[in-house]
Amino acid sequence: MVAAVRVHKHGGPEVLTYEQIELPAPGQGQVRVKQHAAGVNFIDTYFRGGLYPSPVGMPFVAGNEGAGEVTAVGPGVSDLKVGDRVGYVVGLGAYADERNLAADRAVKLPSSISYEQAAGMMLKGMTVEYLVKRTFKVEKGMNVLVHAAAGGVGLILCQWANYLGANVIGTVGSKEKADLAKANGCHHTILYSTENFVDRVKQVTNGALCEVAYDGIGKTTFPATLDCIKPLGMFVSFGSASGPVSAFDINILQQKGSLFATRPTLNTYAAKRADLLAIANDLFDVVGNGKVKIPVNQTYKLKDARKAHEDLEGRKTTGSSILVP
Ligand SMILES: NC(=O)c1ccc[n+]([C@@H]2O[C@H](COP(=O)([O-])OP(=O)(O)OC[C@H]3O[C@@H](n4cnc5c(N)ncnc54)[C@H](OP(=O)(O)O)[C@@H]3O)[C@@H](O)[C@H]2O)c1
Repeated sequence: MVAAVRVHKHGGPEVLTYEQIELPAPGQGQVRVKQHAAGVNFIDTYFRGGLYPSPVGMPFVAGNEGAGEVTAVGPGVSDLKVGDRVGYVVGLGAYADERNLAADRAVKLPSSISYEQAAGMMLKGMTVEYLVKRTFKVEKGMNVLVHAAAGGVGLILCQWANYLGANVIGTVGSKEKADLAKANGCHHTILYSTENFVDRVKQVTNGALCEVAYDGIGKTTFPATLDCIKPLGMFVSFGSASGPVSAFDINILQQKGSLFATRPTLNTYAAKRADLLAIANDLFDVVGNGKVKIPVNQTYKLKDARKAHEDLEGRKTTGSSILVP
């Protein structure tokens, strides 16, 4: 039996149930991982609440990101062995002391990356990689808008866009978060609870607006975010922290300046093993050379996953949150 946090019915953080579950031997193509840390992500709340359907039915073990040590290898696995240190992003199963994992989704960790760092960055950091290098290529001198700049994805995105030479503009929910975003590469911060972020983006860019806007907030920042983007610029809607963006008339993109809009997910960008490894290695490089730091600002015991979700949804966290055994 192993400790795990399961969801038996959709609902708020109170449905996260810490319990003992059976773990079979790893099956074909799987490895068993003794977990050292699991990442806490907004997507975990979408599965918990039912916005995203569970691919494995009910009940399910929550969590989509983790890191640990391979302790057993199933049939058909040739490139991983007992003792390897791995990190991963995979649909569900991460909030557990031990788990089985498809070996082709595991990435070997360089010795310079700790388990805690890996659990705080495999999902968020690989997401930032594809956002700034694949969905839209951020280049020197560009104006880049980052919503929720002090969040898990936000702090990594600010640092990486800054490293690429962009002028980074971030929205945040408090003065403390503004200070933190600035310490992590954000050049201009906007307190969007009290300031009109469209007016402020116009002001700090001298009316030029942004080449790209990265929006993980969704409902409450749409469609205003479109007014922050230059003609022919890109609107990247990559999450729904305030709820999903409602259906809209595509003609709005023409009216706002022939904008491009996309709703990407890491699952698509990292679907092929070669892409997964390329994205992960790119992330390991920028973390390894110190250009991007992974601020793991909240650490909870696995049994306190409920509190971790309450804090994340209550906008009380900054940077990454992890669960440890
Ligand atoms: N598409 C992908 O591949 C992908 C991958 C990873 C993450 N994501 C998305 O990226 C976003 C950020 O994820 P994360 O895990 O790093 O979370 P996070 O940014 O650490 O937390 C969410 C932040 O959103 C802001 N927010 C604004 N309105 C909110 C509301 N009504 N309720 C809660 N928070 C609100 C809060 O910051 P302020 O207080 O500063 O406003 C909060 O701290 C999420 O939408 C997530 O789904 C997408």
